[in-house]
Amino acid sequence: MSFKRKDLLGLASLSPEEMALILEAAEPFKEVSGREIKKVPALRGKTVVNLFFEPSTRTRTSFELAAKRLSADVVNFSPSSSSVVKGETLLDTARNIEFMQADILVLRHSSAGAAEILAKNSRLSVINAGDGWHEHPTQALSDLLTIKEKKGQVRDLRVAIVGDLAHSRVARSNIHALTKMGANVRAVGPPTMIPLSLQRLGVEVFHDFDKAIAGVDVVITLRLQLERQGRSLFPSIREYARLYGLTAERVQRAAQDVLVMHPGPVNRGVEIAHDVVDSGSAVILDQVANGVAVRMGLMYLLAQRN
Ligand code: CP
Repeated sequence: MSFKRKDLLGLASLSPEEMALILEAAEPFKEVSGREIKKVPALRGKTVVNLFFEPSTRTRTSFELAAKRLSADVVNFSPSSSSVVKGETLLDTARNIEFMQADILVLRHSSAGAAEILAKNSRLSVINAGDGWHEHPTQALSDLLTIKEKKGQVRDLRVAIVGDLAHSRVARSNIHALTKMGANVRAVGPPTMIPLSLQRLGVEVFHDFDKAIAGVDVVITLRLQLERQGRSLFPSIREYARLYGLTAERVQRAAQDVLVMHPGPVNRGVEIAHDVVDSGSAVILDQVANGVAVRMGLMYLLAQRN
């Protein structure tokens, strides 16, 4: 099976086979990142443009590293020093980049659907690097690869996703990825952070973290978005941490070999305790390492099609 898509906008529309294909493509690239000279010629002559309208450490850096390790030419586009500040629209910006003969556009934007609009209106291959509260597909694929590597399979695993699922693009993409791959997903958080519509995606909803974590194989903690929603959706950060923070005590209730995951950036002591972040159960930095390989695999597949 080959990857026939022009873009990667989300995982809602991807089949399990397509997701497996991206993970398969990523695996050999892990070895490349371990070499002294971390480069292969797979994207030589191609141009990748990173267009990030929101702050990012992991996603932007790993897309840049992934493209450079594939020998692509990489341009990092900063909206604050571009003609966007003079009023140029997102679509006009993308069309200009297209006519400079770029091949892949990686977009992070605060509006859900921004990547889809560009994908429909340009010949560029568009990769959604996070659009509003909608999806963050490459993060979920990195998480999927990490779970598969550590557990050997995804099917039938019990996975708890804890926190502000209402405003989390990572949660949405992970729910699509994990349910399609046959995991049993539990959504955990206060009612203000768990939309009822999640049940339609095949997840079991819990408001009691101590019950939800019992026996799970994987816990994905989500960042409490302090800058956006935390204070209005919960009486206090301290209260949130008490009821929904992942502590070492709570980890004891999960399966003995539980994986603790977090997409980053982490609020230590809020959604996850300091000692849990640094514990042997945490695979947070493995998720980051796999993010480079997944993005290399994805760009390789998209470039094959171009
Ligand atoms: N996981 C994630 O998207 O992190 P960044 O915001 O640092 O890219």
